[in-house]
Amino acid sequence: MRTQSAPWRAAAVLASVLLVGGVAACGNSDTGGGGSKDDGKITMGFSQVGAESGWRTANTTSIKESATAAGIELKFDDAQQKQENQIKAIRNYIQQKVDVIAFSPVVESGWDTVLKEAKDADIPVILTDRSVDSADKSLYKTFLGSDFVKEGRLAGEWLVEQKKTASGPVNIVELQGNTGAAPANDRKKGFGEAIAANPNLKIIASQPGDFTRAGGKQVMEQFLKANPKIDVLFAHNDDMGLGALEAITAAGKVPGKDITIITVDAVKDGMQALADGKFNFIAECSPLLGPQLMDLAKKVHAGEEVPARIETEETTFTTEQAKEALPNRKY
Ligand code: AHR
Repeated sequence: MRTQSAPWRAAAVLASVLLVGGVAACGNSDTGGGGSKDDGKITMGFSQVGAESGWRTANTTSIKESATAAGIELKFDDAQQKQENQIKAIRNYIQQKVDVIAFSPVVESGWDTVLKEAKDADIPVILTDRSVDSADKSLYKTFLGSDFVKEGRLAGEWLVEQKKTASGPVNIVELQGNTGAAPANDRKKGFGEAIAANPNLKIIASQPGDFTRAGGKQVMEQFLKANPKIDVLFAHNDDMGLGALEAITAAGKVPGKDITIITVDAVKDGMQALADGKFNFIAECSPLLGPQLMDLAKKVHAGEEVPARIETEETTFTTEQAKEALPNRKY
């Protein structure tokens, strides 16, 4: 669907010709190739969402380690959950004429202007982990990441199966990720669609906990105060679920028994809670995107066509499966 723009392809070919012709010293900073240095090393400008969760920490490590392994020079910026910081970082990378820009957008909307600036500067952009809602798909080369709707759906389908014999209402509370983020929007959607199969399953409260432990704990405390009967918690990530555990225990309830807990991610701490029976089910979301990202960066820099969408392979875990997987868990 997305087209590799002809000017980019032409620019990449021109850059190769110039290099082969031994005139690389003239530089390509004002050409389509962006900021390649004389050493031929690719420079990637990466804007990370922040450090809100165990997942994010593992993702940052994967990106940094993979860049080193691939011989790519990485310029890394932590946006601290702010879109304005990401836009600023991307503009800096454009000014520095990096070869490739990659980023994980904190929210889905509001990227068209800065993405257009990158395109006008002939710097290819790769979306990783999260996507944007831009109608113009030519503003980025590819999107590498999970299917968040599917994750929510898998979580919901598991619950439908568990509660198929329920004769009365099953009250669910939902801890959402940060407002406007693709995984928050999509996991909510997938979960909601799946549980619609059983009218007994009702979401009685749903609020953002911003993907953090502190947020999960605080919002769960409010849920517990306002709702005497909570049967199920669906947390959009492990960290919020882990924060909620503290609130549930403090309220005198037994997590995993009095309240069924479903989360997303499957980071080590979440898997431990699942193995211990405090969580009941996790839909996996892999943060180990670094190697594929570096591979894609090399390809787009070389002007090669890449698929418009690359979906991460993922699974789900029950308590028994978590016990088995934990010893070899990498993150
Ligand atoms: O975008 C991926 C999500 O962001 C992860 O599920 C969550 O833990 C992180 O903060």
